Amino acid sequence: MNAPLTGSLTKKIENLMSNNRREKDGHTYTVPSPELYPFQWLWDSCFHATILSYFDVDAARNELRSVTAKPLATGLLPHIIYWKDDYRVTNWGREMRGDVINGSWGTDGTSAITQPPLIATTLWNLHMRHPQNAFLYELYPILREYYLCLMKDRDPESTGLLGIINPDESGEDNSPRFDTALGLPPKHSDHENLDKRISLMEHNKACAFDAFGCAREHFWIKDVSFNAIFARSLESLSNIAQELGAFDDAEIFKIAATTTKEALRKQLCSEEVCYSCGGNEQTKIIIRTWNMFMPLFAGALDATRARKLIEQHLLNEDTFWLDYPVPSVAKTETAFSPENFWRGPTWMSVNWFIYKALAEYGYTDLAADIKTRSVQLIEQSGFREYYNPITGAGLGAQNFTWGGLVLDMT
Ligand code: GLC
Repeated sequence: MNAPLTGSLTKKIENLMSNNRREKDGHTYTVPSPELYPFQWLWDSCFHATILSYFDVDAARNELRSVTAKPLATGLLPHIIYWKDDYRVTNWGREMRGDVINGSWGTDGTSAITQPPLIATTLWNLHMRHPQNAFLYELYPILREYYLCLMKDRDPESTGLLGIINPDESGEDNSPRFDTALGLPPKHSDHENLDKRISLMEHNKACAFDAFGCAREHFWIKDVSFNAIFARSLESLSNIAQELGAFDDAEIFKIAATTTKEALRKQLCSEEVCYSCGGNEQTKIIIRTWNMFMPLFAGALDATRARKLIEQHLLNEDTFWLDYPVPSVAKTETAFSPENFWRGPTWMSVNWFIYKALAEYGYTDLAADIKTRSVQLIEQSGFREYYNPITGAGLGAQNFTWGGLVLDMT
């Protein structure tokens, strides 16, 4: 059974969100964690808008307004916005991965790469719960340009799948999915990983972040979760266009969603198991991470394959069904490291994506179980960035917002 949250947990989430709220340059937004992540991030703001919608719909809309306020000239929504004075945040050095994310991108007040394109789904879900066509009208042109830019710049050969030019675009900065592309072995230090990502960023910069200009020669991955989120969001964008009477657009985005789902199945999956592809030859990256379950978020697998994936992989106690699921990497992988960022720990965003996917495929009891275990993690270890999937210990940033997503496990 999917039990509602207790009043005290709901109150704690409300306080956390309000403590992490900032106002600058006439915009309000939420920082993921005051100390470690003092800027605005793209997919974090999608999570924030979702969480805020349970307390204050205007705040949720404002979060989406601010995160869409600074598109690049191409239409791309940047993965970080540094609002006024943010550059002056001190103590944001190498040990905090600042070399990568706070480097100079050659853009004004933003980064020059993106993050998983969840925003159309966030907006559509918000609209479903709190309809307001005026707000759809306000954001639609920006979102339209963003998704068209992704289709044009990240898939000019119309394969149906987008490429990412930097691991940080996946939202999983040091995932082992990217080791081979970065020239790293399955076991390496954080510094080695960071050094590779810093030099990739220099290449990205030299290529002016243009995938087909040259960036793809240095790093080019067709990632399962990025594309699954894209497919689902194209459907949402089509719904938004339909609602606004933009019927031609609605048709374009609906067809694009179907194309991406088919491409996921044909190019990245064999039967129920899907892997990201990388490099010039686009070879499969055979490593089991949580993104194996993301085709379910896109509704891309039929019921039989979905069942196999869930029963044989998600519920496998040797790989993903650990005491505190769902780990970001299968326990059997050489790269698995239960305390290292995206190389094993359990993240609340992962649980939220998998919750939504399971619920849509009718696995409501299993989804409810994931919610119960997520709540248990927060109650036991607080609002942390990630958790050890074997012991449940809290790790990484403190006062981190993503735990609030349990509110939307409905
Ligand atoms: C880390 C995470 C990324 C997130 C950012 C801010 O870089 O890997 O997914 O967006 O922190 O929370």
